[in-house]
Amino acid sequence: MRDQFGRRVEYLRVSVTDKCNLRCVYCMPLEGLPWLRRDDLLTYEEIEQIVRTMAGMGLRRVRVTGGEPLVRRDLPDLVRMLRDVPGIDDLSLSTNAVLLADQADALRDAGIRRVNVSLDSLRPDRVEQIARRPGCWAPIMDGLDAAERVGFDPIKVNVVLIRGRNDDEIEEFAQITRERPWHVRFIEVMPTSSNLEVSAKEFFSCQEALARLRAVDRLEPVPGPPGNGPAIYHRFPGAPGTVGVITPMSHNYCDRCNRMRLTADGHLRPCLFGAIQTNLRDPLRAGSELLPLIEETLRIKPERHYLIQGSDRGSGGLVALSQTGG
Ligand code: 5AD
Ligand code: SF4
Repeated sequence: MRDQFGRRVEYLRVSVTDKCNLRCVYCMPLEGLPWLRRDDLLTYEEIEQIVRTMAGMGLRRVRVTGGEPLVRRDLPDLVRMLRDVPGIDDLSLSTNAVLLADQADALRDAGIRRVNVSLDSLRPDRVEQIARRPGCWAPIMDGLDAAERVGFDPIKVNVVLIRGRNDDEIEEFAQITRERPWHVRFIEVMPTSSNLEVSAKEFFSCQEALARLRAVDRLEPVPGPPGNGPAIYHRFPGAPGTVGVITPMSHNYCDRCNRMRLTADGHLRPCLFGAIQTNLRDPLRAGSELLPLIEETLRIKPERHYLIQGSDRGSGGLVALSQTGG
């Protein structure tokens, strides 16, 4: 699949639910969002059909996301179904890890090979303040241990930088990569209409983070672990892990974009931001052909996002990233 700017699209992020068991300050309002109804959600069979159609067009990798994907029942069933789609050779998962300890074995057996875990602080009290769910620290740590135990590889740890809440831990996070084969990725917060308090007032750029780390030790640019993402990786000399930066605000990487997104209610989004999306669910349920709809969505994939730091004007009406799978 090639878009009109010559970018090859071979990666789909599949959101299986809009719900989440955490309420991260930059992601979801404390009171939650107006959740989708059960009938609105794609069934696993419908997701599989869409992935199968896209695999026939060149899709190779799928990431399961949410909201929090592990809150949806029987997720390993979906993973097994996707593993059996011809052409799909890479299945990964993005999770907050709260429920991972219980499900890690089943997910690995079903076909998940690698995970991205969100972890915004190394301090229990801060994790719980940022995620706004008391008691979430211990299960998250159990989840990370389970990820190592079952052999997910690579393990990428996502750290959304928030000035005044975790920016004093940048060195500590990077230090972990000298001890463990973790890939710690710092992420610049992206503005949506529900997170302006954080994205406008507590923005912290990855450039500033890298400058701080360069004061600690030499950072070598490295290709980074296998994956599909926009992260640029660096390594401290001899470290088993890497430090990555994801810079949607300070350095646009849309020219390398290789992905589309499928929302939990069956809309195919060619870009995380902007208003363009194609309803695949209703045509699928009506027995219509999906292929022309997918081709047309690819054709209108925007060249880039138009986010503006400090404002949600470029987000295309997005309330929270949990609505689109992040
Ligand atoms: N800006 C940047 N990152 C975000 N995430 C969720 N919302 C935002 C946002 N507004 C992150 C999560 C997770 C990843 C999928 O996206 O922390 O690690
Ligand atoms: Fe949940 Fe992830 Fe959003 Fe946090 S960032 S509230 S873990 S969906």
